[in-house]
Amino acid sequence: MKVLAFSGSLRTGSTNERLLAVAVKGLVAKGVEVDVWNFKAANIPIYDPDTSDANPPAAMVDFKARVRAATGLLIASPEYNYSYPGALKNLLDFASRPPRENPFKGRVSAQLGATPGPGGTLQGQAMLRHVLSGLGCHTLPGAVTVSRAEDAFDEQGGLKDEGQRKTLDGFLQRFVEELTLRSR
Ligand SMILES: Cc1cc2nc3c(=O)[nH]c(=O)nc-3n(C[C@H](O)[C@H](O)[C@H](O)COP(=O)(O)O)c2cc1C
Repeated sequence: MKVLAFSGSLRTGSTNERLLAVAVKGLVAKGVEVDVWNFKAANIPIYDPDTSDANPPAAMVDFKARVRAATGLLIASPEYNYSYPGALKNLLDFASRPPRENPFKGRVSAQLGATPGPGGTLQGQAMLRHVLSGLGCHTLPGAVTVSRAEDAFDEQGGLKDEGQRKTLDGFLQRFVEELTLRSR
């Protein structure tokens, strides 16, 4: 059982990267192997149907292989204009083509989100769930979302709020249970 974890933010110092790191620690503590993928470093180009299917960049070939090797996906994403970032949509679109090579089918997806605002990325999470579901993922119900994220982490990178720590732990537990069911 392996989980591919990545953030949908390309921003240096991203709060979603921080939330992802906390969740990855939690998963590892529950005995799950986690492959953390660096979206920014992969430098994925814009998907172009004229060239991308025939000649995908090495980073995309690598990303698709990592998705295929995983039972689950853990995605921490910001909300951009009541949706999720275009860069993340481009990544999902690019990786989903050609259709017979869609690596997402059958993966269990779990969603996280952090925002400096009060809305917890909930609208973005709904849109992301819609797309992941269309790609054939088994989407784990709910999402762990953090509002006012600039103040949410302590100096060690952990979540300051005990309630949020418990919510995340319960969510990760449900994720592990679903992964276990799908790994059989
Ligand atoms: C184009 C754009 C649109 C945004 N729209 C929203 C939004 O609809 N809701 C929200 O909570 N934050 C919005 N934000 C603020 C982001 O949540 C914030 O910039 C940041 O990306 C949070 O994630 P990060 O720290 O992981 O980068 C927007 C930011 C940008 C750049």
